Amino acid sequence: MQLERLQVEFQGPVARIWMNRPDARNAFDGLMTTELRKTLFDLRTVDSVRVIVLGGRGPAFCAGADLQWMKAMVAFTREENLREAQALADLFFTVYESPKPVVARVHGAALGGGSGLVASCDIAVAALGTQFGFTEVRLGILPAVISPYVISKIGESAARELFLTGERFEAVRAQEIGLVRAAVPEDDLDAAVEGRVGELLKAGPRAIAEAKALIREVAFRRVEDVQRYTVEAIADVRTSPEGQEGMRAFLEKRKPDWVP
Ligand code: COA
Repeated sequence: MQLERLQVEFQGPVARIWMNRPDARNAFDGLMTTELRKTLFDLRTVDSVRVIVLGGRGPAFCAGADLQWMKAMVAFTREENLREAQALADLFFTVYESPKPVVARVHGAALGGGSGLVASCDIAVAALGTQFGFTEVRLGILPAVISPYVISKIGESAARELFLTGERFEAVRAQEIGLVRAAVPEDDLDAAVEGRVGELLKAGPRAIAEAKALIREVAFRRVEDVQRYTVEAIADVRTSPEGQEGMRAFLEKRKPDWVP
């Protein structure tokens, strides 16, 4: 697919997806939504890619949904409106349930859907000074399709404050509430991201995909309701080729065969 809104770079086991609409601070319109979703979907089956890094070209990570595009929805039918909203919801879900870990490299600003995109990634690292915010209510709209990902990262207490005020906040606060895992000086951002990538590459790729499924399955559920799933999950992976290789490598005091 010819990409207009993204650049994708491959470097060994790492795919870097750059949102590339800097003039609009990487605000996502219909085309960006489609391209990002399709790229992530296609990467699911590329075995050589083990980690995905998502970043933004230009001064900001992502200014959220394109407000021109959202505003233009008034001329659409309700059906068309629902279809566009569903496409956006599908994008966040594709990031969230990607079997490959997705690391967000966040700088400049991540607002509205941009903060939502950060929440849907597995691990986010931000530059100090980055502006975050669920600004939707200040625009008379709602952080609707992003809310499941955001609330599961920051909890109801912070969501009540930040969704209702729409106030902007800085990377240190984003780290305190769990939206990002680290806030580092901008000059150290790439090194911090590479640090996360390096740790992820030490883990078995199948085990990572299963661990992501495990979190999705278990979060916010009663222990009784998930116990069967967890029992079957460990019984299956410990007898799998990857599980066997990982445990054998430990016992033989060597690295498993997936470590570069
Ligand atoms: N949708 C559409 N266009 C957007 C946009 C968005 N979400 N965010 C920024 N832009 C556009 C601006 O309108 C401007 O266009 P112009 O050059 O034609 O005037 C351009 O991007 C640059 O924006 P500007 O505000 O001048 O850049 P900045 O670097 O000073 O600030 C932001 C960047 C992201 C902090 C600022 O643009 C901003 O606050 N945007 C709104 C973000 C928001 O609330 N998003 C919620 C969406 S749900």
